[in-house]
Amino acid sequence: LRTIKDIEIDEKRVFIRCDFNVPKDEFGNITDDRRIRSALHTIRYCIDRGCKIILASHYERPEPGKYEEKYSLRPIAKRLHTLLKIKNELYMANDVVGPDAKEKASKLQEGDILMLENLRYEAGETANDETFAKELASFADVYINDAFGACHRKHASIYAIAMQFDKDHKAAGFLLSKEVNFFGKVLESPIRPFIAVVGGSKVSGKLQALNNLLNKVDKVIIGGGMAFTFLKAQGYEIGKSLVEDDLIGEARDIMEKAHSLGVKFYLPVDFVVAPEFSENTAVKYLPSQEIPHDWMGLDTGPASSRLFREVLNDAQTIIWNGPMGVYEMDKFSKGSIMMSHHIAETHATTIVGGGDTADVAQRAGDVDEMTFVSTGGGASLKLIEGVKLPGIEALEN
Ligand code: 3PG
Repeated sequence: LRTIKDIEIDEKRVFIRCDFNVPKDEFGNITDDRRIRSALHTIRYCIDRGCKIILASHYERPEPGKYEEKYSLRPIAKRLHTLLKIKNELYMANDVVGPDAKEKASKLQEGDILMLENLRYEAGETANDETFAKELASFADVYINDAFGACHRKHASIYAIAMQFDKDHKAAGFLLSKEVNFFGKVLESPIRPFIAVVGGSKVSGKLQALNNLLNKVDKVIIGGGMAFTFLKAQGYEIGKSLVEDDLIGEARDIMEKAHSLGVKFYLPVDFVVAPEFSENTAVKYLPSQEIPHDWMGLDTGPASSRLFREVLNDAQTIIWNGPMGVYEMDKFSKGSIMMSHHIAETHATTIVGGGDTADVAQRAGDVDEMTFVSTGGGASLKLIEGVKLPGIEALEN
């Protein structure tokens, strides 16, 4: 994988795709700026070489065409400027490839930065649309991908745009290259037992990954919103908990595959349940078998925590991806915080993947105890599966 050091960028217009999809609290404050800090190395390298820098990222999943303020990259640009500690300007465009972005880009001086608005405001981004990619590409002479966390998405700013540049005008940034090297080394021959802890609520995105992971790992622990799809597949009553009914069959197949491969598969044995999704709601701690039909599970309970600690005890390699519950609310954060502690306390090589999971480890005060905190959630899972990430494929193509 060619990196930014392998190509000529001095005083050029450089487009850097970052992943600034950072966690925020309900007031819109950034709760973990790791993904922004991780981008600094590449950006500073470009500033030092007198480049005119165009930064682009997606943020969450807005409806394309609707410029809703809550999805704007403006607060992220502000935080980035503070972290960079530079005199040069950091301009914010009001659009992605519209007249404002174009005008501001044309006025950039050496070392200046322009941040485009949220790429997903434009429908062409997730559609991997070539026309949109060409518009993005027209901002720059060189394309740098430093968005490890988004490299598993075949989107215009990740894939189609890279096809617009020849091999001497595109490369990986420092973050992307560090992540890929780390996973390459660990996965070459992981020390066993190798355990995957998978949580979070993006069930649909993760089932395929889980299916392939079964060929690599010795044990799997499931937590978070995705646990309910598995529990329902086993015939449990899960009340109003988050579930993806159309994926129940797939969840059942995964459990059967785990069984036939001898991979140990662990689901939560209890939950913190509540009648509604709110900070002030009443809660109960109940076994997985006893979730009332009009209540929902919002965090894994204390018995699950104890079980998971036992399961992790002999681990030599752990990959953790996705929180155990709605950790943003104090009442439902214990399962995730305890998971972070359990993982940090092992002697294993510990890899934490994804914005939210890193945020949990940060809140738990465990970040320094982890071997590697990856900025990629879905992307790191795909790498572990052994899948070539579209973002990397496009750089090499
Ligand atoms: C992530 O947070 O995993 C990446 O930024 C990708 O976001 P997405 O799942 O919305 O594509």
